[in-house]
Amino acid sequence: MPGFSTRAIQAASRVPSAPQPPVNVPIYASSTFVVSDAAELAELLEFARPGHSYSRYSNPTHQALEAALAELEGADAALSTASGMAAIHAAVLSILASGDEMIIPRAVYGGTIGLARTVLARSGIGHRTVDTTDPGAVVNAISRQTRLLWLETISNPTTAMTDVAALAEVAHARGLTVVVDNTFASPALANPLEMGADLVVHSTTKYIGGHSDIIGGAIVGSTDRVDAARHVLINAGGNGSPWEAFLALRGLKTLALRMERHSSNALTVASALEGAPGVAAVRYPGLASHPQHELARRVLRNGMAGGMMAVELEGGRGAGERFLERVRVAVHATSLGSVETLVSHPASSSHRQLSDVELAAAGLSPGMVRVSIGLEDADDLVEDLVGAARPS
Ligand SMILES: Cc1ncc(COP(=O)(O)O)c(C=O)c1O
Repeated sequence: MPGFSTRAIQAASRVPSAPQPPVNVPIYASSTFVVSDAAELAELLEFARPGHSYSRYSNPTHQALEAALAELEGADAALSTASGMAAIHAAVLSILASGDEMIIPRAVYGGTIGLARTVLARSGIGHRTVDTTDPGAVVNAISRQTRLLWLETISNPTTAMTDVAALAEVAHARGLTVVVDNTFASPALANPLEMGADLVVHSTTKYIGGHSDIIGGAIVGSTDRVDAARHVLINAGGNGSPWEAFLALRGLKTLALRMERHSSNALTVASALEGAPGVAAVRYPGLASHPQHELARRVLRNGMAGGMMAVELEGGRGAGERFLERVRVAVHATSLGSVETLVSHPASSSHRQLSDVELAAAGLSPGMVRVSIGLEDADDLVEDLVGAARPS
C-alpha cells in the first residue's frame, strides 16, 4: 500500500464527476492539468487543440468568463486578465512596438497615462494626449509613427464622451487600430465594437464585478486580435485568478439590473446636485447640460447614462476635501462601479500623475470630486451628497 503522504495527496486530488451539472461555473483552482502524453501537452501549449495545460495559458473558469464577455460585447473572442491595467498593457503591446506612437485622450484614466509615461515610454513607445472630443485635434495629432488610437466610451473622471464611430472612421482611414476602454459604460450600456472599435478593454474590477471585491480585466475583439493579446499576456504573466473570474461571472448575471439602478439613481442625484448650494457644475451624460448629452442619448442603451459623475464644487480643493469628509452614506474610497456609492478626489488619487496644467487641460479642477453612484435608495443619496456639498 502506498505511504500516507502519497495517499493523502491522491485522496485529496480526486475530482468529482458530476452527472448533474452545477448551476454555476466551478472555480477551477488548478495551476496545471493532467495530460496523456508529451505530444498532447505540446499541442495544448500551442492552442493547437481544445483544452487546458497550465493556468497562465488558460483555465476553464476564465474561459467561461471569456465566452460570456465575448457574447455580451458582440465579439468572437475575449481574454480575461489579472486587472484592467493588465488588459490595457497587453492590448497596447499586442499592437505597438518600439518606435510606434499612440494617441490617448487628455481626459483618460490616470493609470493609462501612467503606463504610457513609464513602462511604454521606456520601451520606446511614444504617446500624444489629445482632446478626443474634437475629431480635428485627433487628425492633427496623427504622425507617421501613430498606430493606435485609445479611447474611453465615457471618460474617467470627467465623463466626457467621444464619438467612437466617427473617430474609428477617421482612424481606420489612416491605418490606425482603435481600442476603447468600455469600463464606465460596461457592455450593458454600450458595445464599442459595433461602433467600429477593433478591441475593447474592461476593468472587470468595476461594474462587471460590481461589488468592490475583485480585481480583474478583459480584452474583447476578433480572434486574431485577442490571440495577439493572449500571446503578450502569457509571456508577461498577466493572468488572473479563477476565483476572481468566478466573481466576475456572478457579477455579469446582475449587470443589466444594476446598470438600470445605477443610471436612475445617478440621474436623480445629478439633477438634485445641479444648482444646489456649493455646487459649481455637475458633469453627468444623462443631464441636458452635459456637452455630449445628445451623443450619450444616441450611443448609450435605453436612455441610461451609467452611474459616474464629476461634481465641481465651489471653493476648490478645500471644498472637495470637505465633501469627502462629510459624506455618511457614500464611502470615501478610490474605485467605482460598485453597489455602494464611492466618492474620490481625482486630483489627489486616480489622476495624481498629472500636473496642475495637465489637470486643467483634461477638464479636471482641484475642486472636482468623482462620484460613483451605487444602488442605495436615491433619497438617501440626495440628502447625503447635497448636504456634503453645502458651503460651511
Ligand atoms: C476606466 C478605467 N480603466 C482601467 C482601470 C484599471 O483597472 P484595474 O484597477 O482593474 O487595473 C480603471 C481603474 O480605475 C479605470 O477606471
